[in-house]
Amino acid sequence: MSELSGQNILLGVSGGIAAYKTPMLVRGLMAAGANVQVVMTANASRFVTPTTLQAVSGRPVRSDLWDAEAEAAMGHIELARWADQILIAPATANVIADLARGSAPDLLSTLCLATAAPISIAPAMNQHMFQHPAVGENLRRLADLGYCLIGPEYGDQACGDHGPGRMTEPEDLIRAMADTQLEPQRAGSVGLAGLLTGQHLMITTGPTREAIDPVRYISNHSSGLQGLALAEAALDAGASVTLVAGPGVPACHPDIKRLDVTTAQDMYAAVHQHLEHVSLFIGVAAVADYRPQDVPAQKMKRGDQAGQNLTLSLVENPDIIASVAQCGRVPVVVGFAAETEMTLENASLKLTRKKLDAVIVNDVSDSTIGFNSDHNAVTLVHHNGQLPFEKQSKQAISRHLITALTTLFKDKLNLEQP
Ligand code: PMT
Repeated sequence: MSELSGQNILLGVSGGIAAYKTPMLVRGLMAAGANVQVVMTANASRFVTPTTLQAVSGRPVRSDLWDAEAEAAMGHIELARWADQILIAPATANVIADLARGSAPDLLSTLCLATAAPISIAPAMNQHMFQHPAVGENLRRLADLGYCLIGPEYGDQACGDHGPGRMTEPEDLIRAMADTQLEPQRAGSVGLAGLLTGQHLMITTGPTREAIDPVRYISNHSSGLQGLALAEAALDAGASVTLVAGPGVPACHPDIKRLDVTTAQDMYAAVHQHLEHVSLFIGVAAVADYRPQDVPAQKMKRGDQAGQNLTLSLVENPDIIASVAQCGRVPVVVGFAAETEMTLENASLKLTRKKLDAVIVNDVSDSTIGFNSDHNAVTLVHHNGQLPFEKQSKQAISRHLITALTTLFKDKLNLEQP
């Protein structure tokens, strides 16, 4: 018997194109044994008719808070009590904003404030809308309030765009509703749950330091934040994660296995020592390409070279990510590229030269993103195309990247989802 058998499910439908899938959703919920009461927003009926949803659910559809006849049959408070679970699918940016601020302009939002039942939300909207920081903040607020967020998925959109924002398919929504272990998702894990279950990720992050003498070194401005955010998104997606961190990278979640290193050679050794079982390697670290050839045991003194220019002789460091790609032990290898010019061309060159599966490029000539910033804007370049992600927090961009990578490489990673 299905977990949904005998459950009263209140299905809230708001005004997005994905509403055309809701008759199938209602039928699937009912086939699983649930009783379904549909509540529509005014805009939802522009996409699917109340008559259709009434026919498939076998119950009059509710939409008006002020419908005296309907209220006489089952008032909105009784409806809120009747529900064992509420699912809003599709949930538009507008409904999400109402719920996030506790506003109750219509029947659906009023019910959500008046119910003690768990509420699940299946966001669906254009990818730019979904990536807008205001929508992200509202979704995190809902996750904090205990709403369960399901999806959205990544892919082709009705408007012709390609990206995150597709409503999770009805059969997956039904599976999620039947999952009695379904818990409110913590802020930051929006839409990632289970995407990488069983996968082991290794992520390098931060700078490396190459000693000139015992007190001086060559390094760069990497803070490690981008790699840290990716590691935490991967953890939220259910992966086990090893983070190989250069110096100065802030503390990470305790469930992430962290290996601290200093030089490129240390990073190379740590990576290869722990590569077993890694299915997805992401090189975010800004590894020094060269290191001083001779490092004196004592501090170099100005007196030694007084009045003369000092020339440092540098030798090449190992290319860590190219060696991982070449060793053939890791199914998917993804690099980052920090570029200041011809970003896409240079990223494509790195993709082929290092034999990677994808390269995520950021234009670091823009000082508001990339190195040592809380924000980033990137393009994911792979062998069949490019996916741009506009400027947003490194946490938000990491969630989008994890979703995109699981979609792109689901076969290589042997993933059933998405
Ligand atoms: O750390 P943050 O302050 O958050 O900033 C993030 C970032 C700007 C560092 C990050 O978004 C980024 O762009 N990382 C890559 C930086 C870089 O060194 O790019 P690259 O083009 O030099 O290297 C290309 C790829 O090869 C990278 O995956 C790099 O990790 C890898 N590499 C490079 C040299 C080397 N010896 N070994 C490597 O594995």
